[in-house]
Amino acid sequence: MHSIKLRINGQEVEAKPDQTIMEVADHCGVIIPRLCHHPFLKPNGSCRLCAVEIAGYRGLPAACTTPVADGMEVWTKTPKVLDFRREMLRLISRTIPGSVWAVPETAPANSSGWWRPSASISPMRPLP
Ligand code: FES
Repeated sequence: MHSIKLRINGQEVEAKPDQTIMEVADHCGVIIPRLCHHPFLKPNGSCRLCAVEIAGYRGLPAACTTPVADGMEVWTKTPKVLDFRREMLRLISRTIPGSVWAVPETAPANSSGWWRPSASISPMRPLP
């Protein structure tokens, strides 16, 4: 099988045409956060925490379900991506019955795109 070339965060990488962005990122050491993805399960793209920005694509596709393409340019940590992930995590945390944590809109993200535990994370009110 021939290989294709794409860029992730400006770094040129090679991939097989049947790989997803997440598989290639994992192979190259690029960290993309995830909740619903596991390598032994079929990806379903439900949590959206692996959203990435791709040149020429509308919206923020899920890295776990989006196949790579030759010449693709992917960014994993733009402000738009980090804001989107923060919002998705906030929404997810609100749907967990008995959840005691919520991610505030102002939660700081670290360099890998995850949020530092800090005093700014506040207890969540129970669902009605
Ligand atoms: S890891 Fe959940 S949508 Fe990709």
